[in-house]
This record gives sequence, structure tokens and C-alpha cells, in this order.
Amino acid sequence: MNAQAAFMDTDFTQLLVNTVDSGEDANKRALTNTVLAPRFYTTDFDAMDKIDVSSVRQEWDIMMQEYEGDNNHDHFQRDEGFALEVKSLMEKLDENLKQEFYDFLIGSLTSEFSGCILYNEVRKNIDNPDIKKLMSFMARDESRHAGFLNQSLKDFNFGIDLGELKRTKKYTFFKPKFIFYATYLSEKIGYARYITIFRQLEKHPDKRFHPIFKWFERWCNDEYRHGESFALIMRADPKLLKGINIWWIRFFLLAVYATMYVRDHTRPALHNAMGLKATEYDFAVFRITSEISKQVFPILLDIDHPKFKEGLDQLTALSLKMNETNEKSGLFKHLKKGWLAAQAFVVFTKLYFIPVIKSELPQQVRLSPSW
Ligand SMILES: [Fe+2]
Ligand SMILES: [Fe+2]
Repeated sequence: MNAQAAFMDTDFTQLLVNTVDSGEDANKRALTNTVLAPRFYTTDFDAMDKIDVSSVRQEWDIMMQEYEGDNNHDHFQRDEGFALEVKSLMEKLDENLKQEFYDFLIGSLTSEFSGCILYNEVRKNIDNPDIKKLMSFMARDESRHAGFLNQSLKDFNFGIDLGELKRTKKYTFFKPKFIFYATYLSEKIGYARYITIFRQLEKHPDKRFHPIFKWFERWCNDEYRHGESFALIMRADPKLLKGINIWWIRFFLLAVYATMYVRDHTRPALHNAMGLKATEYDFAVFRITSEISKQVFPILLDIDHPKFKEGLDQLTALSLKMNETNEKSGLFKHLKKGWLAAQAFVVFTKLYFIPVIKSELPQQVRLSPSW
């Protein structure tokens, strides 16, 4: 399946409407495949085996030393006060915010675990020593991240059965180049999201309603480094970054940005609680991600184009209407959902053709995380 087909194959109508009230609900939520929910991927391992990083060897070796140094090996452990703090803070939260927070934890865990599975599968199925080593380091990191999130879900008795999730969740096949574009972006946007939240709560500790946010600063440096790895892999193979592939990069940038925007705007309480406005937060994250992505992508989306925000708001409105339609029953439900999906497709296409900004690739690929 190609990337576009995977996007269109998504059930636009199966959006998140139910509440999480039990471990069973949480596990079901992790299993759902919607346009907004994280997916599991598989790829062409033979092609992965042939990756050649010799043209970026110097930067690659420095990066591998950082992985080996493992400066976060002791980070993902809870201190004694963690569970107590959760208890006293969460008691004060209203149900809406709790539900959005559970959704945030489940979504984050699913995407961390998705990385863990993919990197592990690649590692097991190839011989290429550079890529094998990289994949084992990244799987190590993602498994820590997923485990740490699961501990927080277990505090509410919403622990996810990771073995079961691995066995039963649907996998999407992506060619390696689509894995690179999508995973690079999700690692970098993950960094941008976590660091923006961390900086906000550093300034306003009274708005830190759960202790997990204190872990975000060192955590997001792992994601940043994972993104650097894909940046080097892509820069080592320049054909991935020109010609028709620029249209694919454009597609992935928009798909990732739009998904995040719509999803965040369906969780208003979570952002309000942290003193963030979803729109401002998302644009701050877009700005950081765009700035970082200059290391590898020769184009940037014009996020300041007036039609850009307008289109994202239209997608959000359509997604909310889809949720409402889902809750109803009746003869015209499916027709209505189809009509909404068709409108979403038109808006997405318009967004796709907003002119992009060209950007010159820098000589040195790696960039330090300075946000
Ligand atoms: Fe991670
Ligand atoms: Fe990561």
C-alpha cells in the first residue's frame, strides 16, 4: 500500500467519541485505527538492509557514540513521590480533562510502542551493521518511553497489554522512503511538542497537573536524536530529497501537521489546563519543526499563508461534525459521513497546493536541540 492509499484507507468516521472508564476501554482505544490515531508499520527489510551511510560517516559515528553513551539510562524511573503526587493532583481534575489526559497517555504510548516494534523488526530482519545497531538503540529508547507511559496508565488501572496490542493491531506497510519521511517528522514533532510543554510548565509550575511532564526535557532529547538518525539516512541518499519525492515530502509534512492540529483541537481541556491555547501551541510546534526540518527537506510548508490556518480550521470543524454524526443513528448516517470525508479530502487537497517555501540544504546535517 502506498502512503496516500494508507491515508485514504483510514476510517475517517471512527473518531474518538467514547470515554475511557476501564482497562478494557483503554486497550480498545489503543487498538483503534483512525486518521488521528497512531499506527503500527512494517516495511521492506531487504531495502533497509541496503542503506549506505558512508557519505555521512563522520556525523553518523558521532551520533552512534551518543547512543552508546546512553545519557538517559537512569531517567525513566519514577521517584518515590510520583504516585502520591498523581493521587493528590488528579483528584482535583474535572472529568473532561481526565478523559483528554487518558487519551493523551494512550495515544503517546501507542506511538512510542509503534516505534519500538518497527525498529525491533528492522533490527531482527537485516544484517547491515550500521542500521542494525541504530535500530537496537532506538528500540531500547522507545521501549523505555512506552514502559514509562504504561506505568502512568497503570496508576488508573488502565495499563495496556503490549503483547496483545502487538499481536492484534493492524500494521500498515510503508516503503522505506515513506518510513523515513513519516518517522523523521514524527520524531522531530514529538521533540517540538514535548519541549514546548516542558518550557511552558517550567514557567508555570502551578499548571503541571501530572508529574510526568517533569520528565519531558530529557525524554525529548531521545526523540530529537532519533530524528537526527533519519535525517542522516536521508541525506546519505540525495535522490530521496529531490524530484517527485519533494511531492511526497510535501504530502507527509501536511499530513503530520494537519493530524496534529485536528487532534489537539479536539482536546481543548488538556491545553487549557497547561495554560496553552491549542492554536498557538500548534503553531509554535510547527515553527520549531519547520526550522529543524531545514536540515533535510528542501521545502517548507508556508504555515503563515492565510489559507493555511483557514484550511486546518475547516478540517477540525469537519472532524467535529464527523464525531457528532457518529453518535447518531439513522438512514442517512453513512451518506453524511461520506459527504464529510469528501469535503475533508477537498480541503486537504487545497492545503496541499498552497505554494511551499524553498530551502537550501546545509552542508552539515546535524543540528543541536536548542529550544
Ligand atoms: Fe520515544
Ligand atoms: Fe523516538
